[in-house]
Amino acid sequence: MSLARLRLGVNIDHVATVRNARGGALPDPVRAALMAIEAGADGITAHLREDRRHIRDADIAELRARISKPLNFEMAATEQMLDIALKTKPHAACLVPEKRTERTTEGGLDVLGQHNHLKPFIAELTRGGIRVSLFVEPSVEALEASRDAGAPVVELHTGAWCEAVAHGETDKAEREFARIAAAAKASARLGLECHAGHGLDYATARRCAGLPEIVELNIGHFLIGEAIFVGLPMAVRAMRAAMDEGRAGR
Ligand code: PXP
Repeated sequence: MSLARLRLGVNIDHVATVRNARGGALPDPVRAALMAIEAGADGITAHLREDRRHIRDADIAELRARISKPLNFEMAATEQMLDIALKTKPHAACLVPEKRTERTTEGGLDVLGQHNHLKPFIAELTRGGIRVSLFVEPSVEALEASRDAGAPVVELHTGAWCEAVAHGETDKAEREFARIAAAAKASARLGLECHAGHGLDYATARRCAGLPEIVELNIGHFLIGEAIFVGLPMAVRAMRAAMDEGRAGR
């Protein structure tokens, strides 16, 4: 049996991280989004954090206006973000927990504990025509809570698995992968569309792709890092040519 094509959402947050390190306009995350789509991305993900450490409000507006594929707006479940989402009207919103001190989204949402806050929040986004996903730990409890809160989609946090793989912790990695596989199965049983992401690279994405219930992967940090190595030779050659032409008076 051949599986349906697995969608790839490219997260361009870290193009903005590099831009912000210099405080100027380059590199432009919208240009990266357009190139990712040209190369086969099925959608673009961007996380507008409370502290605006990478993506900024203007990036979200530009992405919405200029990209031809769905925008997946990653956001914390706050009033300010709700306001921005309802004005921007992205195709989808992925609700994530957010801590000021974290370097990246460290764990899944506490959907059960926040049920009373999340249920009306999800309903409001849904009324605004936005498809809501919840970024959750790969556990049946989190999935049941997501369904009860009214979310049509879950994104399974693959970070613990990817970290165990990266550290060569084979037994832990296998346990974590088994949790993801079981959660993917459970999501189908519960009628939830299943996405996955965080920390994925070529090898871990390939393994996730073997899970038939997962329909979308969202990948950022590895791709932007890898793009440096794939793209640096071309950029250096173009610079070499520009300098040589300048010297030759051309
Ligand atoms: N999905 C969600 C919900 C995330 O928060 C992130 C990180 O911003 C990703 C996917 C992408 O993770 P990574 O950048 O590690 O590929």
